[in-house]
Amino acid sequence: MKWNEHHTDKAVVTLDRVSKKFGQRVILNELSLALYEQENLVILGKSGAGKSVLIKCLVGLIRPDSGRITILGKDITQLSEEELNATRLQVGFSFQSSALYDSMTIFENLAFPIRRTNSIISESEIETRVNERLEEVGLLHTKDQLPSELSGGMKKRIGIARTLILNPKIMLYDEPTAGLDPETASDINDLILQVQKKHHTSSIIITHDLSCAHATGDRIIGLFDGYNKIEGDYETLKNNPPPELISFFNYAQN
Ligand SMILES: Nc1ncnc2c1ncn2[C@@H]1O[C@H](COP(=O)(O)OP(=O)(O)OP(=O)(O)O)[C@@H](O)[C@H]1O
Ligand SMILES: [Mg+2]
Repeated sequence: MKWNEHHTDKAVVTLDRVSKKFGQRVILNELSLALYEQENLVILGKSGAGKSVLIKCLVGLIRPDSGRITILGKDITQLSEEELNATRLQVGFSFQSSALYDSMTIFENLAFPIRRTNSIISESEIETRVNERLEEVGLLHTKDQLPSELSGGMKKRIGIARTLILNPKIMLYDEPTAGLDPETASDINDLILQVQKKHHTSSIIITHDLSCAHATGDRIIGLFDGYNKIEGDYETLKNNPPPELISFFNYAQN
């Protein structure tokens, strides 16, 4: 799908002139953007550009100073704590660090979100769901292991499997390929595409890795100076790179 075809589609997330400062430092400066149904939207920006702050605003961990954020039609800045929690369940957040619980087995790490949100579900149903997700990321054989026994790439896959366990409509990936070798990073990119295809999720992928942006993004937004400065598909941006992206493309060629 070409990025400019999305504009007729339904937006599942919108940001409308969202601003956030820390002290005197402006991090997000009237940022507006939309995520359309079933697209993979990449947000590309340098380290410190405010990418993680943006994702934290989306999940309600940080409240913007001004502006509106809607998720699945609801203005999350206006919701009560209870309504916010209900909306959050529809949004899967895959952390920059995989954020697994070190003392729990892989199985228990995946079972945890189910147990926390559903007190009447049977053990066998939990097992079925966890096994299905582990199988999906190719790591069913690790279910009795501890996170410390797994490689960085495996932990990322487990993190993604755990994020999927509650069947979110929207997936947020914060730096999914950070710290991985190119081959493992490429496997994670493939997994992101596979998740979109299988679960029909709409995703925001936050990254400063151009090959991740290329592999996973239907559309790329460049976050610079706190706002949505650049927008397009990979080929368009590559053929005529805006000044902010030249260093990304030069680096990628080396
Ligand atoms: N809670 C906070 N209090 C004060 N400053 C913060 C806070 N969170 C983030 N910042 C600042 O906001 C800026 C943007 O941070 P953010 O973590 O969003 O960067 P990023 O784009 O995710 O970078 P990276 O690619 O390194 O992950 C940084 O200068 C950071 O120091
Ligand atoms: Mg970050």
